[in-house]
Amino acid sequence: MLPRIQQLFLLLLGVSGAICLENGLARTPPMGWMSWERFRCNTDCMAYPDECISDKLFREIADAMSSDGYADVGYEYLIIDDCWLAHNRDANGKLQPDASRFPNGMLDLSDYIHSKGLKFGLYEDYGNFTCAGYPGIIGHMEDDANTFASWGVDYVKLDGCYAHLHDMDIGYPAFGDYLNRTGRPMVYSCSWPVYQEFNGIKPDYEAIIKTCNLWRNYGDIQDSWNDVLSIIDYYASKQDEIIPHAGPGHWNDPDMLIIGNYGLSKDQSKAQMALWSVMASPLIMSNDLRSIGAEFKAILQNKKVIAVNQDPLGMQGRRVYQSDSVEVWTRPITPVQDGQYSYAVVVLNRRTDGTPYRFSQSLQKLGLTNPAGYAFEELFDGVTHGELLPSDNLDVRVNPSGVKMFRAELKAKAEDTNHRPLIFPVGY
Ligand SMILES: *[C@@H]1O[C@H](CO)[C@@H](O)[C@H](O)[C@H]1NC(C)=O
Ligand SMILES: *[C@@H]1O[C@H](CO)[C@@H](O)[C@H](O)[C@H]1NC(C)=O
Repeated sequence: MLPRIQQLFLLLLGVSGAICLENGLARTPPMGWMSWERFRCNTDCMAYPDECISDKLFREIADAMSSDGYADVGYEYLIIDDCWLAHNRDANGKLQPDASRFPNGMLDLSDYIHSKGLKFGLYEDYGNFTCAGYPGIIGHMEDDANTFASWGVDYVKLDGCYAHLHDMDIGYPAFGDYLNRTGRPMVYSCSWPVYQEFNGIKPDYEAIIKTCNLWRNYGDIQDSWNDVLSIIDYYASKQDEIIPHAGPGHWNDPDMLIIGNYGLSKDQSKAQMALWSVMASPLIMSNDLRSIGAEFKAILQNKKVIAVNQDPLGMQGRRVYQSDSVEVWTRPITPVQDGQYSYAVVVLNRRTDGTPYRFSQSLQKLGLTNPAGYAFEELFDGVTHGELLPSDNLDVRVNPSGVKMFRAELKAKAEDTNHRPLIFPVGY
């Protein structure tokens, strides 16, 4: 007899196995670091030697990831975004990095990243050019997939600038096929749906989940709280359409964590970490790990919050309550028993009226209906709130533009030995 959790996996595989990309990767949302949001396309190494897109930057980030505890809590992919390329392919048509900024070549950098116990991610673009104007992969897809494999790439982010929108339905799967044929497992991150969505084309998610491990649905994140709010509003407004596509091996991607940069307060940083975890989002930081403040590092390395993000069920959470600029988001997580889930619960206070807001609602109203109740623990302050029944109120104070995030672990009914089949909760 398999343990319960394995039975559940088999059930989920049975539901989704036939129609999704199954390259064995990204069974939980990928975690790592990516250069774009924080370092953009800074190529001026004379003026900005510590910030330009260069071999030196990525070696220093690799050092910080491995020595400052990030790798230990699960951040494993170091992903180089746009602007690593030379403006031209080499004489044989092969992609090559900018020679002055990457004097040792890509394989040497890849070896260094791997030597730190990390994995190596690299950006390209499906179209004629990358978004910053470097060579794209069209016309060279097979060669470029092989080049990536020969450099030890573990994760490919494929952007969609300078491409025809309808071609993407053929091009993204074709490149995925070439990646597969290299024989090297590479996580495949697609920007396919966001370009289509923003231009009035309805993305074919059935095709997308067959092709990609993760995909961008919405625009690039910028360094502000307003931008974080606009992203969560997009995911909430589309939740019925988007949530069913997420699961082990295939994830919606609301873009990078901007925690530790210029735009978010400490409370807002907790909010981004909490919401990204409840949304089963990839946790890809973009920040300067060489100089990040200790309070932001602690938020990024909060193991209990990360455990929610990495929950093995891989179910994406949703907004279940909204009133007075206060929202509640919930995500079903393990342990599961007798058709009842445990939950992560985030109370988000969007208000800015200066003082912590008192929120009080019954669990029932938030969709938590396990008759035997739940043990509640707040995951940032470690405070346990005891055991609550569905009729009890969750009664908390939440800072302005901040969150409380709970793990609500279901309590087993004492002598219930019935093994009823798993029932998906309403709305999931
Ligand atoms: C890419 O280049 C090809 C060949 O020049 C051209 O036919 C195609 O229209 C270009 N694509 C875009 C999106 O501009
Ligand atoms: C290629 O695709 C097959 C079939 O989906 C899969 O079993 C295999 O793991 C893939 N290989 C790589 C390297 O992605």
